[in-house]
Amino acid sequence: MVEQRSRRSCLAVPGSSEKMIDKARGLAADQLFLDLEDAVAPLAKEQARGQVVTALTEGGWDGRIRTVRVNALDTQWTYRDVIEVVEGAGEQLDTIMLPKCAGPEQVRWLELTLAQIERATGLPEGGIGIEVQIEDAPGLVSVDEIAGASARMEALHFGPADFMASINMRSLVVGEQPPGYDVGDAYHYPWMRMLMAARAHDIQVLDGPYLQIKDVDGLRTVAARSAALGFDGKWVLHPAQVEAVNEVFSPRQEDYDRAENILDAYEWYTSEAGGARGAAMLGDEMIDEASRKMALVVAGKGRAAGM
Ligand code: GLV
Ligand code: MG
Repeated sequence: MVEQRSRRSCLAVPGSSEKMIDKARGLAADQLFLDLEDAVAPLAKEQARGQVVTALTEGGWDGRIRTVRVNALDTQWTYRDVIEVVEGAGEQLDTIMLPKCAGPEQVRWLELTLAQIERATGLPEGGIGIEVQIEDAPGLVSVDEIAGASARMEALHFGPADFMASINMRSLVVGEQPPGYDVGDAYHYPWMRMLMAARAHDIQVLDGPYLQIKDVDGLRTVAARSAALGFDGKWVLHPAQVEAVNEVFSPRQEDYDRAENILDAYEWYTSEAGGARGAAMLGDEMIDEASRKMALVVAGKGRAAGM
């Protein structure tokens, strides 16, 4: 398993708001995306491109993953979004996020466009990654092909608001269960499909936003569900959400310490010093190659989060 950069929290920032961009610089989210899509009004979109370029080139983002969400490919804005942002700030940009991704051909379009801009401007080839949002039925049914459509693919993001609207789910509260559905979690199916696609292609997978900004307990409950399944992180929209989400998607300290102990014990037992025995013990518990892999997942997440 490749060790990936931490994406516990992904902060959405409207690309047209200088004030919110400035505020975002002080927040401890692992990833931030400057938005050109739904948080920016149609008449502000062209100007927002320049504001996003300025925000990236001015810096102040430290080790965070810097992403720009462009408009979806069924609008007139996408190609200019990509060209202006990558030509203007390609060196200060880690990934482009494509919303409402409906199939692998959209990822390939973005891959070719990025390669062209990189060649034309002398940016390192392949340097800019791709992330996509799965937000409707066409996207979900082709999520496996989408996840494997390009070596640039780094993450899938679930877009619950658009997804609920696109499948006619009868709820108006984003991220919560639709009233009347009381036999399980209405998001289990899209989440699991996305999780399988991401893991099959060794990329990350994140849950989308929780819009009840004031309800941090509700946020923790919802975040804990996708975290338990194996999701890497979740979107945050407000400073009050960052710490809670970072915490939910980090291993607990005791689990992290135990994972590192398992790895150390297993390494010793299988080395020359331990007599290369294969079956290892940690206290009273027997550990084997499968325990090592499970420990590696927890340790990997903890190390990426700087534990
Ligand atoms: C996010 O883009 C969503 O639609 O929930
Ligand atoms: Mg959306």
